[in-house]
Amino acid sequence: MNAAACAMTRARDALTDLRPKPDDITADALEGLSRDPKTLPSKYFYDAEGSRLFEAITHLPEYYLTRTELALLEQRLPSIAQAIGPGAHVVEYGSGSGRKTELLLEHLHAPVAYTPVEISRTAVVQATARLSEHFPAIEMLPVCADFTRPLDLPESARPAQRTVMFFPGSTLGNFTDEAAQALLDGMRQTMGPGGCALVGIDLDKEPALIEAAYNDAAGITAAFTLNLLARLNREIGSDFDLDAFAHRAVYVRERLRIETFLVSQRAQTVQVGGRRFDFAQGEAMQVEYSHKYTDARFAQLAARAGLKVTHGWNDARDWFGLRLLQPL
Ligand code: TRP
Repeated sequence: MNAAACAMTRARDALTDLRPKPDDITADALEGLSRDPKTLPSKYFYDAEGSRLFEAITHLPEYYLTRTELALLEQRLPSIAQAIGPGAHVVEYGSGSGRKTELLLEHLHAPVAYTPVEISRTAVVQATARLSEHFPAIEMLPVCADFTRPLDLPESARPAQRTVMFFPGSTLGNFTDEAAQALLDGMRQTMGPGGCALVGIDLDKEPALIEAAYNDAAGITAAFTLNLLARLNREIGSDFDLDAFAHRAVYVRERLRIETFLVSQRAQTVQVGGRRFDFAQGEAMQVEYSHKYTDARFAQLAARAGLKVTHGWNDARDWFGLRLLQPL
């Protein structure tokens, strides 16, 4: 982060706006479309409409993740707060409906500050506006940025005892192992030697249960993935025909992940950033991975990022887990 942006974050409730510029989005889209198989960068799912559709996904009967994690938090936060300790500066990568954050801030012992780091400006502004009403004693230090890039944390006015990185929702699962490792490694640097991270992970389970969560009967997930094309059309002037692509999500258990594709329904040519890309009929463009974890796999991933799992909490069915990590 540059000095000016950094200074801005020091002022109370100031907003650091480092959201992506059209040129960055175009470059990311061109890079993905030049690969074989083609991909699109999934971090751009969450514009205003994408965030609204994702919120709707979290209420779907098939999408067990959010409600399971919420129930887990409600039940286990007393012991989680105990493990984290008092006077924390909570740093959240991404900000969803804010309900999980509220629960965490309510249960932690005298947290001093809250910093959501979020690519969607609307989401980050709304999240802190609402939270500052509920938690007037907690300093709000929002940062609008791409959390996959290195970041200097705004300093709280009152010194924090500990930095806690909060990363719920199994968002970590949306990164490849390599990127997840880099992200955890960055978290370890941001939290410092005395810090910790509370991470939500979706656990490996019966494939049919997982697949249903990504192929809901009401078609909201399909609308969500197709919205990525609508956003690109609007923001970088591409000409994807939304009716000519179909959503498909498959659980590949050998790789412990849901693979989501947009499948071209006919042979077609799409223009993006002044370049033309040919799609064959049935060609599957990969748009998202949602990795699921076993304890062994997660511990291994954490270790490669210089972190160890010190505590873990699962729901009664072992569908979803929360893990507390600290530097090795
Ligand atoms: N983090 C969510 C997940 O992987 C995001 C998500 C839900 C998603 N449904 C999706 C991403 C469908 C792509 C496609 O569970």
